[in-house]
Amino acid sequence: MATVDSSNRSCDSSFLHRGNRMSFKLFVMFILLLFTVEKGFSDDDHEMEEFLKREYSLSKPYQGVGSSSSSHWELMGDAMVTTDYIRLTPDSQSRQGAVWSRIPCNLKDWEMQVHFKIHGQGKKNLNGDGLAIWFTKERMQKGPVFGNMDNFTGLGVFVDTYPNEEKHIEAQKKRYTPRTQRIFPFVLAMVGNGSISYNHERDGRPTELGGCNAMVRNLKHDSFLFIRYIRRRLTVMIDIDGQHEWRDCLDIPGVRLPQGYYFGATAITGDLSDNHDIISLKLYQLTVIRSRKEEEEEEEEEITIPSVDNLDLLRLGQNEEGMSGIAIFFAVLFSLLGCIFLVVIGLVVYSHWNESRRKRFY
Ligand SMILES: *[C@@H]1O[C@H](CO)[C@@H](O)[C@H](O)[C@H]1NC(C)=O
Ligand SMILES: *[C@@H]1O[C@H](CO)[C@@H](O)[C@H](O)[C@H]1NC(C)=O
Repeated sequence: MATVDSSNRSCDSSFLHRGNRMSFKLFVMFILLLFTVEKGFSDDDHEMEEFLKREYSLSKPYQGVGSSSSSHWELMGDAMVTTDYIRLTPDSQSRQGAVWSRIPCNLKDWEMQVHFKIHGQGKKNLNGDGLAIWFTKERMQKGPVFGNMDNFTGLGVFVDTYPNEEKHIEAQKKRYTPRTQRIFPFVLAMVGNGSISYNHERDGRPTELGGCNAMVRNLKHDSFLFIRYIRRRLTVMIDIDGQHEWRDCLDIPGVRLPQGYYFGATAITGDLSDNHDIISLKLYQLTVIRSRKEEEEEEEEEITIPSVDNLDLLRLGQNEEGMSGIAIFFAVLFSLLGCIFLVVIGLVVYSHWNESRRKRFY
């Protein structure tokens, strides 16, 4: 089966640091040494190198951003630039802001490191609504999905700081077992194909690929989000504990994203608010050595519409946890009834056949 194990997809309950751990300090040292980081490490036995792509990256001092039309990045809405960060929204009601890359990205394999900060006056659950990182066909569109349009085409990774569904605690209790109820802020990923709507009332659960909780508000230390797309595998990790360690958030194979889309970051506030700040977006090109076979396979089927393989299985796996005892009981009951029915039919047919055969003998 092509799905990953559920502990990998959702780390609600697992705070274990495992897999792709990376020493951040070492990494920062590398950046200081070189403008272009060149790093070799292996991933699934494949050698890989990464290069910082300055044209898709956004970092201090944000030269020309928001003022010059030759800048690689463009601001929208309430976003503003300071010397230390790009503030997508201030801590006040009903704002939305965005920063979008002007250059479509044609890299096959890439990695985005997002340095961000979400902070505000609001106490527990009195803040909102969150920010999103995008790799989409569309750019510079306003809308309800964390400040971007609905029915977007491409990838969205959301840092959702406000639980809409949990407002209705009773509904939530009916729908989810304690195990599948989640704690906010929550990080999740979604792939849209232009006609899939984000369900705001249910915090995107019907369309999510996976996610994890992440206490990202009002932290004293820096917070980072890591999005890697390599050989059609989407991996999201977070570093929010100030330990310079990546924690797994989701890892999904078979994610098909076309090339030539735009990177962006957006945020929105409603009745409740927060400052949503982007300190940097660093985009690395990953140079992956592919086998001839892999290359041919990828050339054969050029991706034009984003999609995710085996989405049904993925969903099934997620819903399994939430499947109530009653649902399982009925599923088993009906399968049993079906079997009994088939056996009875078989017996009837057989006895008829037997009888007519006996008749022929007489
Ligand atoms: C988008 O995805 C939905 C749900 O998987 C599917 O029904 C629809 O046909 C897809 N649209 C396109 C244009 O592929
Ligand atoms: C998004 O797509 C859905 C289903 O295709 C459609 O019903 C809805 O009107 C669309 N919304 C927008 C804002 O385009």
